[in-house]
Amino acid sequence: MKFIFLAMLGFVFTNAYTQNFVPNYDESKIPDYVLPQLLISKDGSKVSTATQWKNKRRNELLANFQTYIYGKVPNGDVDVQTQLIKKLDAFGGKAIMKEVKITFSRNQKKISMNLLIYLPKSGTKVPIFLALNFNGNYTIINDPNISLTTSWVPNNEKFNITDHQATESSRGSAHRRWPVEEIIDHGYGLATIYYGDIDPDKNDFSDGIHPLFYTPGQVHPAKDEWGSISAWAWGLSRAMDYLEKDDNIDPSKVILLGHSRLGKAALWAGATDERFAIVISNESGCGGAAISRRKIGETVARINTSFPHWFCDNFKQFNNNEDALPVDQHMLIALIAPRPVYVASAEGDKWSDPKGEFFSAYYAGKVYQLFGLTGLPNDKMPKVNSPIMRTVGYHIRTGKHDLTDFDWNQYLKFADLHFKK
Ligand code: GCU
Repeated sequence: MKFIFLAMLGFVFTNAYTQNFVPNYDESKIPDYVLPQLLISKDGSKVSTATQWKNKRRNELLANFQTYIYGKVPNGDVDVQTQLIKKLDAFGGKAIMKEVKITFSRNQKKISMNLLIYLPKSGTKVPIFLALNFNGNYTIINDPNISLTTSWVPNNEKFNITDHQATESSRGSAHRRWPVEEIIDHGYGLATIYYGDIDPDKNDFSDGIHPLFYTPGQVHPAKDEWGSISAWAWGLSRAMDYLEKDDNIDPSKVILLGHSRLGKAALWAGATDERFAIVISNESGCGGAAISRRKIGETVARINTSFPHWFCDNFKQFNNNEDALPVDQHMLIALIAPRPVYVASAEGDKWSDPKGEFFSAYYAGKVYQLFGLTGLPNDKMPKVNSPIMRTVGYHIRTGKHDLTDFDWNQYLKFADLHFKK
């Protein structure tokens, strides 16, 4: 009874806050702020070499992001079963399509995620993009061979989804965001997973991967334990465990890509798992690439209220209190160094704070310099549709919040630049 009452109260508060929230979009109204120092260690010492970064500062920052923002993955092994469920020719025989079901079990509970893979038939091990998708593998392309997801999906009148179960009518519905054949023709593979297979995107910690790791009696992650973004990132690492074993894939050339909330997850996975060779954030915004202290567009308080399950509970201490954060998001980008990282924004996506995304990418450059690599040339945002590609890449394109062909073209070029040199 008490729990239901509190849940209702929470719901009313969330709705009221979300409805009344007025985002600031005026640069002149950004409060003065000081970014935490990237290259000064906790003990006050200066970080001036790549070794000091790798052995000391990087670990301090990673621990802060774990404890205060995304949450720690609890200790303990999970049993993993991998099953190839489909392997077929695709695109008139120039590619193959595979479905790999990966089942995790622990604590008498189990969940499965389906990895959908397209690979060019090239005779060699290919580089591959790995990306989570929003609505189910079967939505990324109109291919009748792809299994419908059996996981929880949001209801959607347009696609006749009324009981949280995927229907045939949305097959291929997201194809515009997934130029699979172009990727194949470019010599790359694509692997994708429906993010709801790992943890359904709702404020409910009784489903998805979390319960497998609960201690007896636990029903919710502890304050410093993983929220959903960290769970999705964990799923990406488990996908990587599989990619490393696939004979047709080059595990040293896995490019992690994510859009929006899945861009936040891609950045976190790239920061925590150094096996990912390149990391790409497409319009990841607040809690992703954007500097939190700018409080422009979506803010920490707003994201923690609308999506209370995305981050660890400790992050809520920083609602309207960004200056107290021990880190800011440029440090997340820096955790990817020395591996190439690309941050992308869209002009019409003010909610994600394009300038704050750019600044993160720019400031992270200091760490790339320690490795003798080049970040973005200066703190002036480039013109729209004028990508910059160094070890750190950035573009802002015209258009709205989306993942477009323009974006993909840049990512293919960026991957070529770093893999084919
Ligand atoms: C909302 C949310 C963003 C998120 C986006 C998305 O707009 O506020 O933080 O990035 O959804 O995932 O599409």
